Amino acid sequence: MPSPPRRESECYLDVQGLRKTFIDKKRKVEAIKDISFSVAEGEMVGFLGPNGAGKTTTIKSILGLVKPDSGTVTVDGIDCARNHREAMKQMAAVLEGARNTYWRLTVWENIRFFAGIHGVSATKEKDYFEYLLEVLKLQDKRNTEVRNLSSGYKQKTAVACALAKKTPLVFLDEPTLGLDVESSYELRAALRSLQSEEERTIVVSSHDMKVIQDVCDRVIIISGGRIVTDESIDGLLSLFRTRNYRIVISQNTNMQHAESLLAEINSGFPQAEISETPNTIEIAVDFKNPFEIYELIETLRKSGAPIESITQEQVDLERAFLEIVRRENGLCG
Ligand SMILES: Nc1ncnc2c1ncn2[C@@H]1O[C@H](COP(=O)(O)OP(=O)(O)OP(=O)(O)O)[C@@H](O)[C@H]1O
Ligand SMILES: [Mg+2]
Repeated sequence: MPSPPRRESECYLDVQGLRKTFIDKKRKVEAIKDISFSVAEGEMVGFLGPNGAGKTTTIKSILGLVKPDSGTVTVDGIDCARNHREAMKQMAAVLEGARNTYWRLTVWENIRFFAGIHGVSATKEKDYFEYLLEVLKLQDKRNTEVRNLSSGYKQKTAVACALAKKTPLVFLDEPTLGLDVESSYELRAALRSLQSEEERTIVVSSHDMKVIQDVCDRVIIISGGRIVTDESIDGLLSLFRTRNYRIVISQNTNMQHAESLLAEINSGFPQAEISETPNTIEIAVDFKNPFEIYELIETLRKSGAPIESITQEQVDLERAFLEIVRRENGLCG
C-alpha cells in the first residue's frame, strides 16, 4: 500500500534505505532492513509495530544514536551523517526506556535546563514553558523533584523538556508506555492540542494502534524491520471498511408472514445470518456491493416490516493492524 509521492518542497525529514544489523551473542539480528519514508513539515506521523519491529532502532538511527550500516537521513535538507551537529539542532526526542530528565531537579528546573542547553532562553520563553506545564497538566508538580513523581508525570515532564527545546522535529518513542488509562488520554489530548497550536513535525512510535489513531494523521506500520504500510489514518480506515450491516426489524401483525419474508431474504442474500426473538428479527449481512442494501430494504418495505435499527459494523483498526502484520509474516488464517 504505497503512499502518494510527496512534493520535494514538502519533505522535511527524508529517510532512504536505512539498514542496521546488531550482533547479539555472536548472532546477527537484522533490526531494520531497508527503511525509506519521508515526512512533510507539520505532519504528525505514527510508527506502529509489534515489539521488536524496529521502531526504536529507526528513531535512534535518525538521531545518530545508532550508526546505521547503510542509508541516508536528511532533516530540512541537512545530511545527518555529514553534518550531525547542525542536524541535531533541528531535533528533540523522548526515548523509550531512557530517563530523559534529571531526577534530582524539579520539573521547572528540568524544562529550563534542557531548553537552555539547546540555546532556548528561559527568560524569553517563560510564557511558552508555562503553556507546556498547562497543556501537560504539570502546574501542580512544577516544584517537585522528578524522582518523586509517578511514572506518568515523569513521562509528561520528559515530553515537556523535549518540546521546550522548540525544535521543528520531535520524536516521541512509546510516549504512553506504562501510563494508566487517564494519563495516557491526557498525554494524547496534550499532543493533539500542541499539534493544532504549533507547526511542529512530530513522529510518535507505539505498539498501540489506538494511540496512533488518536494523535496522528498518518501511520507507518513497521514489522520485521520493514515498512509494510504507509497510509493516512483515513486511508487505512477505508481500506478495512466493511459492508457489514445489522438490521433489526420488529415482528408485527402488519407484516407479511415472517417465514415467507425470511425465505425471500435467504434466497436473495444467502450470506445473511438471521436470528429471531419473539418480537424482533435481526439480519446480519455483508453486502457484496454498495447497491445490495437497497434490494434488502425494498424486500423489507414490501413485507411491511418496521425497521427498528440499521447499524454498520465499525472498522476495528486493531484487527486491521494485526491482519497487516500477520499477512506480512505469511501467517494467514
Ligand atoms: N543494541 C542492540 N543489540 C542487539 N539487538 C538489538 C539492539 N537493539 C535492538 N535490537 C534488536 O533489534 C530488533 C528491533 O528492536 P527495536 O528496539 O528497534 O524494536 P521496537 O519496534 O522498538 O520494539 P518495542 O516495541 O519492543 O520497543 C529487536 O529484535 C531487538 O532485539
Ligand atoms: Mg521500541
